[in-house]
Amino acid sequence: MNIIAICGSPRKGNTEFVLRRFLIKAEEFGHKTDLILLREKKIGHCNSCFSCNDEGSCNMRDDMAGIVERIMADDLIVFGSPNYFNNVTGLMKDFMDRLQPLRVEDKLAGKKAVVIMVGEEGDSKSSAAIATMTSAADILKMAKVGDLYLVAKKALDVENNPESVQKIDDFAKNILS
Ligand SMILES: Cc1cc2nc3c(=O)[nH]c(=O)nc-3n(C[C@H](O)[C@H](O)[C@H](O)COP(=O)(O)O)c2cc1C
Repeated sequence: MNIIAICGSPRKGNTEFVLRRFLIKAEEFGHKTDLILLREKKIGHCNSCFSCNDEGSCNMRDDMAGIVERIMADDLIVFGSPNYFNNVTGLMKDFMDRLQPLRVEDKLAGKKAVVIMVGEEGDSKSSAAIATMTSAADILKMAKVGDLYLVAKKALDVENNPESVQKIDDFAKNILS
């Protein structure tokens, strides 16, 4: 499979580490992978012009067009975000909103989705945030094949926790091998 991971963290921290680790495992299982760091991209807020509904494409001229072209060639999209206020980050939300042109024509229908989230509180606090990304995948008619939540606060918490790293490896194996 071609796998793309989308990182919604504004910093080089846990989410990026988890996604990179997941992709390393994916490569070991023979998949082709790529990582997009949203913090390095210029992605404007959707401004509700609805040109995607009327003309089938987005009028905004920024990095989203290239990302859309890229994910159209992928089989599995990994949505990765830290938990901010029991939800995704603004970076991830802007990205999801800008997928509206693909929603209009069901262009991502049938592709696989994985949802990954990192937050400082325990699993039970993450459900709303996980649900946001799951809901985006559902709306886009994608098939969610798994979700993963890891507890971490400081930037290196996941990397420095062997149990968390093992959890990523096991998750990747379950989904990708
Ligand atoms: C503005 C802000 C809001 C946050 N809100 C939550 C929250 O509601 N629940 C939670 O579990 N963690 C929350 N956190 C903690 C982050 O999810 C945590 O630090 C995470 O490891 C960050 O991921 P990153 O290292 O990939 O950036 C918040 C952090 C920030 C900066």
